[in-house]
Amino acid sequence: MADLRTTVAGISFRNPLWLASGIWGESGNSLKGAWDAGAGGVVTKSIGSEPRMGYPNPTIETYDNWGMLNAMGLPNPGIDEYPQEIGVARDAGATVIGSVFGADADEFARLGERMAATGVVALELNLSCPHAKGLGSEIGQDPDQVREVVSAVKRAVRVPVIAKLTPNHYDVPLLAEAAEKAGADAISAINTVRAMAIDARLRRPVLAHGSGGLSGPAIKPVGLACVWQIFERVKIPIVGMGGIETADDVIEYLLAGARAVQVGTAVAFEGVGVFRRLGEELTRRLDALHVVQVADLVGAAHGAPAAP
Ligand SMILES: Cc1cc2nc3c(=O)[nH]c(=O)nc-3n(C[C@H](O)[C@H](O)[C@H](O)COP(=O)(O)O)c2cc1C
Repeated sequence: MADLRTTVAGISFRNPLWLASGIWGESGNSLKGAWDAGAGGVVTKSIGSEPRMGYPNPTIETYDNWGMLNAMGLPNPGIDEYPQEIGVARDAGATVIGSVFGADADEFARLGERMAATGVVALELNLSCPHAKGLGSEIGQDPDQVREVVSAVKRAVRVPVIAKLTPNHYDVPLLAEAAEKAGADAISAINTVRAMAIDARLRRPVLAHGSGGLSGPAIKPVGLACVWQIFERVKIPIVGMGGIETADDVIEYLLAGARAVQVGTAVAFEGVGVFRRLGEELTRRLDALHVVQVADLVGAAHGAPAAP
Protein backbone atom coordinates (compact mmCIF):
# COMPACT_ATOMS: atom_id res chain seq x y z
CA MET A 1 0.00 0.00 0.00
CA ALA A 2 1.28 3.49 -0.89
CA ASP A 3 2.95 5.41 1.93
CA LEU A 4 1.01 8.65 2.46
CA ARG A 5 3.47 10.19 4.93
CA THR A 6 5.11 13.44 3.95
CA THR A 7 7.64 15.83 5.44
CA VAL A 8 7.32 19.62 5.36
CA ALA A 9 9.99 21.84 6.91
CA GLY A 10 11.43 18.89 8.81
CA ILE A 11 8.07 17.92 10.34
CA SER A 12 6.61 14.54 9.56
CA PHE A 13 2.87 14.37 8.72
CA ARG A 14 0.89 11.12 8.63
CA ASN A 15 -0.59 12.15 5.26
CA PRO A 16 -0.49 15.23 2.99
CA LEU A 17 -4.13 16.27 3.58
CA TRP A 18 -4.37 19.23 5.97
CA LEU A 19 -7.38 21.19 7.13
CA ALA A 20 -7.08 24.73 5.65
CA SER A 21 -7.28 27.78 7.90
CA GLY A 22 -10.65 29.36 8.56
CA ILE A 23 -12.88 26.42 7.74
CA TRP A 24 -13.86 24.29 10.69
CA GLY A 25 -10.78 25.28 12.70
CA GLU A 26 -12.16 27.83 15.13
CA SER A 27 -12.49 25.66 18.23
CA GLY A 28 -10.31 22.94 19.70
CA ASN A 29 -13.11 20.45 19.22
CA SER A 30 -13.49 21.28 15.53
CA LEU A 31 -9.72 20.89 15.00
CA LYS A 32 -9.91 17.58 16.86
CA GLY A 33 -12.86 16.56 14.66
CA ALA A 34 -10.84 17.08 11.48
CA TRP A 35 -7.88 15.20 12.98
CA ASP A 36 -10.09 12.29 14.10
CA ALA A 37 -11.57 12.17 10.60
CA GLY A 38 -8.09 11.58 9.16
CA ALA A 39 -6.53 14.97 8.35
CA GLY A 40 -2.73 14.81 8.28
CA GLY A 41 -2.44 18.23 9.92
CA VAL A 42 -4.88 20.89 11.07
CA VAL A 43 -4.38 24.63 10.58
CA THR A 44 -6.17 26.90 13.05
CA LYS A 45 -8.39 29.80 12.10
CA SER A 46 -6.15 32.89 11.69
CA ILE A 47 -5.80 34.42 15.15
CA GLY A 48 -5.07 38.09 15.89
CA SER A 49 -4.09 40.11 18.96
CA GLU A 50 -7.64 41.05 19.96
CA PRO A 51 -11.05 39.38 19.57
CA ARG A 52 -12.67 40.43 16.26
CA MET A 53 -16.33 40.15 15.32
CA GLY A 54 -15.71 40.17 11.57
CA TYR A 55 -18.06 41.76 9.05
CA PRO A 56 -21.85 41.87 9.24
CA ASN A 57 -23.87 39.31 7.25
CA PRO A 58 -24.10 38.25 4.52
CA THR A 59 -20.49 37.07 4.69
CA ILE A 60 -20.74 33.95 2.54
CA GLU A 61 -22.37 33.00 -0.74
CA THR A 62 -22.12 29.43 -2.01
CA TYR A 63 -22.31 28.19 -5.60
CA ASP A 64 -23.14 24.57 -6.43
CA ASN A 65 -20.26 22.85 -8.20
CA TRP A 66 -17.81 25.70 -8.34
CA GLY A 67 -17.22 27.21 -4.95
CA MET A 68 -17.80 29.89 -2.40
CA LEU A 69 -17.39 33.63 -2.06
CA ASN A 70 -16.61 34.96 1.41
CA ALA A 71 -15.75 38.15 3.24
CA MET A 72 -15.76 37.05 6.86
CA GLY A 73 -13.45 39.86 8.03
CA LEU A 74 -11.21 37.53 10.07
CA PRO A 75 -13.55 36.91 13.03
CA ASN A 76 -11.58 35.23 15.83
CA PRO A 77 -11.47 35.04 19.63
CA GLY A 78 -8.01 36.66 19.95
CA ILE A 79 -4.75 35.13 21.14
CA ASP A 80 -5.56 35.39 24.88
CA GLU A 81 -8.48 32.98 24.51
CA TYR A 82 -7.04 30.63 21.92
CA PRO A 83 -4.34 28.54 23.66
CA GLN A 84 -6.94 26.45 25.48
CA GLU A 85 -8.50 25.49 22.12
CA ILE A 86 -5.14 24.32 20.83
CA GLY A 87 -4.74 22.35 24.06
CA VAL A 88 -7.93 20.41 23.25
CA ALA A 89 -6.64 19.52 19.76
CA ARG A 90 -3.16 18.64 21.01
CA ASP A 91 -4.56 16.42 23.78
CA ALA A 92 -6.28 14.49 20.99
CA GLY A 93 -2.86 13.95 19.38
CA ALA A 94 -3.44 16.37 16.50
CA THR A 95 -0.57 17.89 14.55
CA VAL A 96 -1.59 21.55 14.81
CA ILE A 97 -0.28 24.44 12.71
CA GLY A 98 -1.09 27.85 14.23
CA SER A 99 -2.22 30.59 11.83
CA VAL A 100 -1.77 34.24 12.80
CA PHE A 101 -2.44 37.61 11.18
CA GLY A 102 -1.32 41.12 12.12
CA ALA A 103 -0.95 44.67 10.89
CA ASP A 104 2.87 44.85 10.88
CA ALA A 105 6.06 42.90 11.55
CA ASP A 106 6.06 43.62 15.30
CA GLU A 107 2.50 42.42 15.76
CA PHE A 108 3.17 39.28 13.70
CA ALA A 109 6.28 38.57 15.81
CA ARG A 110 4.46 39.03 19.12
CA LEU A 111 1.57 36.86 17.98
CA GLY A 112 3.92 34.27 16.51
CA GLU A 113 5.70 33.99 19.84
CA ARG A 114 2.41 33.55 21.73
CA MET A 115 1.13 31.02 19.19
CA ALA A 116 4.41 29.05 19.20
CA ALA A 117 4.20 28.83 23.00
CA THR A 118 0.94 26.84 22.68
CA GLY A 119 2.88 23.87 21.30
CA VAL A 120 1.89 24.09 17.63
CA VAL A 121 4.35 22.28 15.32
CA ALA A 122 4.63 25.27 12.96
CA LEU A 123 3.26 28.75 12.32
CA GLU A 124 1.40 29.78 9.20
CA LEU A 125 1.52 33.54 8.59
CA ASN A 126 -1.65 34.77 6.91
CA LEU A 127 -0.13 37.33 4.55
CA SER A 128 -3.00 36.93 2.18
CA CYS A 129 -6.55 37.63 3.34
CA PRO A 130 -8.09 39.58 0.42
CA HIS A 131 -10.74 41.49 2.38
CA ALA A 132 -9.32 42.81 5.68
CA LYS A 133 -8.21 46.44 5.57
CA GLY A 134 -4.54 46.92 6.54
CA LEU A 135 -4.09 43.19 7.19
CA GLY A 136 -3.53 40.13 5.08
CA SER A 137 -2.87 40.72 1.42
CA GLU A 138 -2.31 44.47 1.84
CA ILE A 139 0.91 43.34 3.54
CA GLY A 140 1.37 40.19 1.54
CA GLN A 141 1.30 41.95 -1.84
CA ASP A 142 4.44 43.91 -0.98
CA PRO A 143 7.66 41.81 -1.14
CA ASP A 144 9.44 44.20 1.26
CA GLN A 145 6.74 43.80 3.89
CA VAL A 146 6.71 40.02 3.37
CA ARG A 147 10.46 40.01 4.03
CA GLU A 148 10.09 42.19 7.15
CA VAL A 149 7.27 40.13 8.63
CA VAL A 150 8.92 36.77 8.00
CA SER A 151 12.31 37.96 9.37
CA ALA A 152 10.68 39.36 12.51
CA VAL A 153 8.77 36.15 13.17
CA LYS A 154 11.82 33.98 12.46
CA ARG A 155 13.79 35.98 15.04
CA ALA A 156 10.99 35.49 17.59
CA VAL A 157 10.28 31.74 17.33
CA ARG A 158 12.02 28.39 16.96
CA VAL A 159 9.22 26.46 15.21
CA PRO A 160 9.13 26.39 11.39
CA VAL A 161 7.44 29.37 9.75
CA ILE A 162 5.17 28.93 6.73
CA ALA A 163 4.31 32.05 4.69
CA LYS A 164 0.80 31.85 3.20
CA LEU A 165 0.63 33.83 -0.01
CA THR A 166 -2.07 35.61 -1.94
CA PRO A 167 -2.76 34.80 -5.60
CA ASN A 168 -3.76 38.46 -6.08
CA HIS A 169 -0.36 39.65 -7.32
CA TYR A 170 1.17 39.86 -10.79
CA ASP A 171 4.22 37.82 -9.73
CA VAL A 172 3.36 35.43 -6.88
CA PRO A 173 6.78 33.66 -7.03
CA LEU A 174 8.40 37.03 -6.26
CA LEU A 175 6.54 37.01 -2.95
CA ALA A 176 7.71 33.43 -2.36
CA GLU A 177 11.31 34.47 -3.05
CA ALA A 178 10.98 37.34 -0.56
CA ALA A 179 9.68 34.91 2.08
CA GLU A 180 12.43 32.39 1.35
CA LYS A 181 15.18 35.04 1.57
CA ALA A 182 13.78 36.14 4.93
CA GLY A 183 14.13 32.58 6.23
CA ALA A 184 10.64 31.11 5.74
CA ASP A 185 10.70 27.33 6.08
CA ALA A 186 7.82 26.72 3.66
CA ILE A 187 5.21 28.45 1.49
CA SER A 188 1.45 27.92 1.55
CA ALA A 189 -0.38 28.88 -1.63
CA ILE A 190 -3.03 30.03 -2.23
CA ASN A 191 -5.46 32.08 -0.16
CA THR A 192 -8.73 33.09 -1.84
CA VAL A 193 -8.89 34.97 -5.14
CA ARG A 194 -10.36 38.50 -4.92
CA ALA A 195 -13.86 38.38 -6.34
CA MET A 196 -17.38 39.68 -5.97
CA ALA A 197 -21.00 38.98 -6.84
CA ILE A 198 -23.79 41.47 -7.56
CA ASP A 199 -27.48 40.88 -7.02
CA ALA A 200 -29.05 42.24 -10.21
CA ARG A 201 -32.53 42.38 -8.69
CA LEU A 202 -31.45 44.33 -5.62
CA ARG A 203 -28.80 46.29 -7.55
CA ARG A 204 -26.16 45.82 -4.88
CA PRO A 205 -23.28 43.51 -3.95
CA VAL A 206 -24.29 40.15 -2.53
CA LEU A 207 -21.79 40.33 0.36
CA ALA A 208 -22.18 43.07 2.97
CA HIS A 209 -18.49 43.91 2.56
CA GLY A 210 -18.83 44.27 -1.22
CA SER A 211 -15.93 42.23 -2.54
CA GLY A 212 -14.55 39.06 -1.01
CA GLY A 213 -12.48 35.98 -1.76
CA LEU A 214 -13.33 33.09 -4.06
CA SER A 215 -12.50 29.51 -3.09
CA GLY A 216 -13.42 26.00 -4.24
CA PRO A 217 -13.14 24.20 -7.60
CA ALA A 218 -13.25 27.46 -9.63
CA ILE A 219 -9.81 28.45 -8.30
CA LYS A 220 -8.03 25.12 -8.69
CA PRO A 221 -6.30 26.17 -11.94
CA VAL A 222 -5.13 29.38 -10.23
CA GLY A 223 -3.74 27.47 -7.25
CA LEU A 224 -2.02 24.94 -9.50
CA ALA A 225 -0.36 27.67 -11.57
CA CYS A 226 0.88 29.43 -8.44
CA VAL A 227 2.33 26.23 -6.96
CA TRP A 228 3.92 25.37 -10.31
CA GLN A 229 5.60 28.76 -10.67
CA ILE A 230 6.69 28.95 -7.03
CA PHE A 231 8.26 25.48 -7.33
CA GLU A 232 10.40 26.75 -10.20
CA ARG A 233 11.65 29.76 -8.20
CA VAL A 234 12.23 28.63 -4.59
CA LYS A 235 13.76 25.60 -2.87
CA ILE A 236 11.65 25.54 0.32
CA PRO A 237 8.67 23.16 0.47
CA ILE A 238 5.24 24.22 -0.77
CA VAL A 239 1.83 23.42 0.69
CA GLY A 240 -0.73 23.74 -2.10
CA MET A 241 -4.41 24.54 -1.96
CA GLY A 242 -7.37 25.88 -3.85
CA GLY A 243 -10.35 23.80 -4.97
CA ILE A 244 -9.23 20.35 -3.86
CA GLU A 245 -12.12 17.88 -3.79
CA THR A 246 -10.75 14.60 -5.18
CA ALA A 247 -7.64 12.42 -4.98
CA ASP A 248 -6.80 13.44 -8.54
CA ASP A 249 -6.84 17.11 -7.46
CA VAL A 250 -4.35 16.20 -4.72
CA ILE A 251 -2.13 14.34 -7.18
CA GLU A 252 -2.16 17.33 -9.57
CA TYR A 253 -0.96 19.63 -6.76
CA LEU A 254 1.78 17.15 -5.81
CA LEU A 255 2.90 16.93 -9.44
CA ALA A 256 2.98 20.75 -9.63
CA GLY A 257 5.36 20.79 -6.66
CA ALA A 258 3.38 20.66 -3.40
CA ARG A 259 4.54 18.35 -0.61
CA ALA A 260 1.25 18.62 1.20
CA VAL A 261 -2.13 20.19 0.44
CA GLN A 262 -4.87 21.90 2.38
CA VAL A 263 -8.59 21.40 1.97
CA GLY A 264 -11.02 24.20 2.81
CA THR A 265 -14.21 24.67 0.83
CA ALA A 266 -14.68 20.91 0.33
CA VAL A 267 -14.78 20.59 4.14
CA ALA A 268 -17.44 23.31 4.27
CA PHE A 269 -19.52 21.44 1.66
CA GLU A 270 -18.92 17.85 2.74
CA GLY A 271 -17.88 17.98 6.39
CA VAL A 272 -14.69 16.55 7.88
CA GLY A 273 -15.53 13.11 6.43
CA VAL A 274 -13.82 14.47 3.31
CA PHE A 275 -10.45 13.60 4.91
CA ARG A 276 -11.26 9.90 5.29
CA ARG A 277 -12.66 9.79 1.75
CA LEU A 278 -9.67 11.59 0.24
CA GLY A 279 -7.18 9.45 2.19
CA GLU A 280 -8.79 6.24 0.96
CA GLU A 281 -9.13 7.52 -2.63
CA LEU A 282 -5.54 8.72 -2.66
CA THR A 283 -4.20 5.38 -1.45
CA ARG A 284 -6.21 3.56 -4.14
CA ARG A 285 -5.08 5.97 -6.89
CA LEU A 286 -1.41 5.79 -5.89
CA ASP A 287 -1.56 1.99 -5.74
CA ALA A 288 -3.16 1.88 -9.19
CA LEU A 289 -0.41 4.17 -10.50
CA HIS A 290 2.28 2.04 -8.77
CA VAL A 291 3.44 5.09 -6.81
CA VAL A 292 5.16 3.89 -3.65
CA GLN A 293 5.24 7.14 -1.70
CA VAL A 294 3.88 10.68 -1.91
CA ALA A 295 7.40 12.12 -2.20
CA ASP A 296 7.83 10.39 -5.59
CA LEU A 297 5.20 12.69 -7.13
CA VAL A 298 6.39 16.03 -5.76
CA GLY A 299 7.21 18.30 -8.71
CA ALA A 300 7.29 15.30 -11.06
CA ALA A 301 5.40 17.13 -13.84
CA HIS A 302 8.19 19.68 -14.25
CA GLY A 303 10.29 19.01 -17.27
CA ALA A 304 7.88 16.33 -18.38
CA PRO A 305 6.43 16.65 -21.88
CA ALA A 306 2.82 17.92 -21.98
CA ALA A 307 0.13 15.23 -22.00
CA PRO A 308 -0.94 14.25 -25.55
C1 LIG B 1 -15.02 30.88 4.88
C2 LIG B 1 -13.54 30.93 4.70
C3 LIG B 1 -12.73 31.45 5.71
C4 LIG B 1 -11.35 31.51 5.56
N1 LIG B 1 -10.57 31.98 6.58
C5 LIG B 1 -9.20 31.98 6.45
C6 LIG B 1 -8.38 32.40 7.53
O1 LIG B 1 -8.83 32.75 8.63
N2 LIG B 1 -7.03 32.39 7.32
C7 LIG B 1 -6.45 31.98 6.15
O2 LIG B 1 -5.21 31.99 6.03
N3 LIG B 1 -7.22 31.56 5.12
C8 LIG B 1 -8.57 31.54 5.25
N4 LIG B 1 -9.35 31.08 4.21
C9 LIG B 1 -8.70 30.60 2.97
C10 LIG B 1 -8.53 29.08 2.98
O3 LIG B 1 -7.69 28.66 4.04
C11 LIG B 1 -7.91 28.59 1.63
O4 LIG B 1 -6.67 29.22 1.45
C12 LIG B 1 -8.80 28.91 0.44
O5 LIG B 1 -10.17 28.80 0.76
C13 LIG B 1 -8.50 28.00 -0.77
O6 LIG B 1 -8.73 26.64 -0.50
P1 LIG B 1 -10.14 25.90 -0.84
O7 LIG B 1 -10.47 26.19 -2.27
O8 LIG B 1 -9.90 24.44 -0.56
O9 LIG B 1 -11.18 26.47 0.09
C14 LIG B 1 -10.75 31.03 4.35
C15 LIG B 1 -11.57 30.52 3.33
C16 LIG B 1 -12.93 30.47 3.49
C17 LIG B 1 -13.77 29.89 2.37
